Amino acid sequence: MLPAPRRSGHYRVALVCLGNICRSPMADVVLRAKVAEAGLAGRVTVRSSGTGGWHVGEPMDPRAAATLRAGGYDGSDHRAQQLAASWLDEDDLVLAMDAANLTDVAALAGPDGHARRVRLLRDLDPEGPGDVPDPYYGGDQGFTEVLAMVERCCDVLVTEIAALVR
Ligand code: 4NP
Repeated sequence: MLPAPRRSGHYRVALVCLGNICRSPMADVVLRAKVAEAGLAGRVTVRSSGTGGWHVGEPMDPRAAATLRAGGYDGSDHRAQQLAASWLDEDDLVLAMDAANLTDVAALAGPDGHARRVRLLRDLDPEGPGDVPDPYYGGDQGFTEVLAMVERCCDVLVTEIAALVR
């Protein structure tokens, strides 16, 4: 079960990784596309950020953009942002890409802050839970694997969100 929306009929999702140039931007673009396909574009808000600020303002990694393009998605509008504590008060669901990101998000949320709204993306993976591994220091295959994981998880996520906003 996903956490309930704060505002009836609308759902806000944030996707978080370390740099916001590889994994969470890919998840952001895929989730937006699947939300639009489901006819829910006006009812679901999607954004993404990194726990670190090194790449703020930059487009996504060219390998992430190329992998998305090959899969039929357009990542060209993305610009990296850094996660702020305010996101935890605003978004209904904050999905971290790996366990380290989850720890960092939880630390920002504080001891009694929104624990049930912060989860791992792959808790939604029909093939089983785990991390979305960081592809930054590896080869192109890592990005292809990230896309496949993200697509599986976003299919489930859109189905679950649809039940909450319809
Ligand atoms: P991401 O990948 O967290 O999936 O965006 C990374 C991007 C940048 C760095 C690390 C991971 N970095 O160290 O700059």
